[in-house]
Amino acid sequence: MTNQVDLIVDQIGQLCTIPAHEHGPQRGAKLGDLGIRENAAIAVTGGKIVAIGRRDTILEEYAAETRVTARGKVVTPGFVDPHTHLVWMGDRADEFEMRAKGATYSEIMAAGGGINRTVRQTRSASLLGLMEATKARLDRMLEYGTTTVEIKTGYGLDLSTELAMLSAIALLDAEHPIDLVPTFLGAHAVPPEYASQPDQYVEFLIQHVLPAVVAWKQEHWPGVLYCDAFCENGAFTLDQTRRIFDAARSFGLPLRLHADEFESLGGTALAVEMGARSVDHLLATTPEDAARLGASDTVAILLPATPFGLNITNTAPIKLLLAHNAAIALATDCNPGTAWCESTQMVLALATRTLKLTTAQALAATTINAAYALDKGDQVGSLEVGKQADLVIWDIPDFRHLGYRFGANLVSTVIKRGSVVFEQNLNT
Ligand code: NIG
Ligand code: FE
Repeated sequence: MTNQVDLIVDQIGQLCTIPAHEHGPQRGAKLGDLGIRENAAIAVTGGKIVAIGRRDTILEEYAAETRVTARGKVVTPGFVDPHTHLVWMGDRADEFEMRAKGATYSEIMAAGGGINRTVRQTRSASLLGLMEATKARLDRMLEYGTTTVEIKTGYGLDLSTELAMLSAIALLDAEHPIDLVPTFLGAHAVPPEYASQPDQYVEFLIQHVLPAVVAWKQEHWPGVLYCDAFCENGAFTLDQTRRIFDAARSFGLPLRLHADEFESLGGTALAVEMGARSVDHLLATTPEDAARLGASDTVAILLPATPFGLNITNTAPIKLLLAHNAAIALATDCNPGTAWCESTQMVLALATRTLKLTTAQALAATTINAAYALDKGDQVGSLEVGKQADLVIWDIPDFRHLGYRFGANLVSTVIKRGSVVFEQNLNT
């Protein structure tokens, strides 16, 4: 007897299922288990995977209204991008030019440029304007194979604009195929009106903004909402970060942290101690903190597009992190200052070079591990029965082409919750 399903993805030459390990991320020496199956097919109903197997078996057992052929090529889960700043207005191309002439990111920020430049432009935008600018970036992400994206606020730094950024994320989540995960990053920079009073800004965040954000969540966002902070010289101190985290935790918001991007202030140890879901950047992380991450459930999110975008050669201590059994994920950090990069394919290409990950390790770090970094490991990030049918058909004969080639879009078809949402006929 054949079962009727909505969709069969057929003729998959190399299917990378990228399984979870013990209902968690792939860690340490076990990172890079792609769970490859050959000559496979996938049956999908109601947006979820109902069967995966050899194509002859699947075709015997299932019949579908729609059949999509992978033409013998590679299929992977859709990418999960667990760290972006996708809602912003304007650009900072001139700062990129200044850096090419020798200015540093921190110098530009101290002189009133950097994040606060983007804050000025974002504050004067309308909600519709913000949504339009963000939608164009999400469209590019989808075309490059990303199907789940975390987005931080942090270009408002006042009550109304922070809430407008959250609204933009919630409205785009409803209308765009990509699933979005919001993070409140009120502690991204000290805004100009608090320039000489950073502690008062932290108080304002705790007393006024956080409660309003929590009220917004109760009304508009049934999913998870995280709280993040930028713990760095020129942004927020360790003590200020702790105060914000204490307040966020008292409201029940799970934590993430920007730490060790330029210097190590102790943020990583604090985040691990407070049970943060992830610590991100980690370019200046100490060996002790790498060991702390390894011994914890906190995911180390590495962002190789950021030093590339800044044109610096710093890298995260990847060997130590893996030796300590840490859970590693990769993300774009897409933002107008350090890394305007919508492409996780580019991040894979960088990770296989600057971090010397194998393509298999980098693929696991952009799919299943990234999904766990957003507490979505039971829904997306791998191709397993019961999970969302979010997948990409690649126009390549072998998964290793994803690390080896760079700069061109290798996507053939993107399927989100069982529907084809992007197609590109490369015919190669
Ligand atoms: O992750 N480091 C802080 N935030 C961003 C940069 C944001 C910006 O420069 O606009 C980052 O690199
Ligand atoms: Fe960031």
